[in-house]
Amino acid sequence: MKIPLVNLKLQYKKVEKEILKGIKEILREQNLILGKYCALLEEKIASYTGVPYAVSCANGTDALILSLMALGIGNGDEVLTTPYTFFSTASSITLVGARPVFVDIEAESMNIDPDKIEEKITEKTRALIVVHLFGKLCNMDKIMAIAEKYGIYVIEDMAQSIGARKNGKMAGSFGHVATLSFYPTKNLGGIGEGGMVLTKDSELANRLRKLRVHGMDKVPYRHELIGINSRLDEIKAYALYTKFKYLEDWNRKRIENAKFYSSELKDLPLLLPSAEDDGSHVFHQYVIRLEERDNLREFLGRRGIQTAVYYPLPLHLQECFRYLGYKKGDFPHAEEASMKSLAIPVYPELKEREKRYIVKCIRDFFKK
Ligand SMILES: Cc1ncc(COP(=O)(O)O)c(C=O)c1O
Repeated sequence: MKIPLVNLKLQYKKVEKEILKGIKEILREQNLILGKYCALLEEKIASYTGVPYAVSCANGTDALILSLMALGIGNGDEVLTTPYTFFSTASSITLVGARPVFVDIEAESMNIDPDKIEEKITEKTRALIVVHLFGKLCNMDKIMAIAEKYGIYVIEDMAQSIGARKNGKMAGSFGHVATLSFYPTKNLGGIGEGGMVLTKDSELANRLRKLRVHGMDKVPYRHELIGINSRLDEIKAYALYTKFKYLEDWNRKRIENAKFYSSELKDLPLLLPSAEDDGSHVFHQYVIRLEERDNLREFLGRRGIQTAVYYPLPLHLQECFRYLGYKKGDFPHAEEASMKSLAIPVYPELKEREKRYIVKCIRDFFKK
C-alpha cells in the first residue's frame, strides 16, 4: 500500500468539474486579478471567521509582511514569536526591518507558552505573532490578556488552522490581525499560492488594501504608501471559493482521523497530540512524538507510508538568524519537539483500511 502525507489529487477530483467551468468563464471575461471572485472569497471568509474585513493577497508570507507593514512595525521594533513554526512567521519580521524575539513553546501543545511571554517584553516590543501550530488554537485568553496589559498587537498566524474554534469563537477572531495561507496542502488549499489578512479594524483594512497594490488608492499611479505587489488571481480565488464549501466537512474528517489514531495508539510509548473534542484543533497535521523518530520514519517509509518532520531545526538555531545571538539550549521545548516530531497522514480522504494499515505499521515498529 502507498499512502502519501496528503492526497491533493483525490481532493481535486471532487471539485474538478466546478473549477474547470469557472476557470473557463474567468478566462473568457479576462478580468484576471482582484475581481469578483476575490471579493466573494473575502466576504465568505470574513463571515465564516466572524472578522469583518478580509484582504486577499498573494501568499501567507505576504499576509504576514503586509500585516506588520500596516501596523507600522519596522526598524527598531521587536516582535515576539515562537521558534517552532514555519520560517516565514519570523522572516516576515526581519523583512520589515524589525527584530524577532523568540519565546519557547509549551511542551504539551507545542504552541507559544503564554507564561513565558511577559519576561520577553521590553519597551521596544510592538507585537506578538502567535501560530496555531498544526491546527491547534493557542491559549488566546491568556495571550490577549497579556497583550492588553502591555499594549502590544497580536497577529494570529492561522496558516494551519482555518476553522479551529473555542466556544464558538473562530481562529482569526481573537487578535488584532490574522493571516492565512492557501498553499495547496493547507486545510483550505488553493490551486497555487494564495493568502489573506483578516482584521476588525476598518482603517487597518484600508491600509492593507493599498499596501497590496503598491500603496495606491483609487487614483491610479498615485502612491500614498510604499506597498508591495501582492494580489490574488481570480482563477485561484474562484478555486478557493469553490473548495470553501467543503472546508467544514474536510476539517471534521481530519478530526475523526485524529480521534481514531489517538484511541488506537494510546497504549504505545508515543506522545500524541491532545485530542479535545471541542473543535480547537483542526489537525492540519497529526504529529506524534518519540525518541526514535527517525527510525520510525524509515520503518514507515519502507512500508509505503509517507511522513514528514515539522520542523527539523527550530528557528533560533537557523544560520540566517545567527545574528540574533541565540544558542542551543535557549528554547528546550522547541528543540525537543524538533527532534521528536513526526507527522503522519491525516488528510480527509484517508480510507479506513489506510488508517488501520498506518496504525498496524506503527504497532509493528514497537514489536520489533
Ligand atoms: C505557520 C505558517 N506561517 C506562514 C506560512 C507561509 O505561507 P505561504 O507558504 O503561503 O507563504 C505557512 C505556510 O507554509 C505556515 O505554515
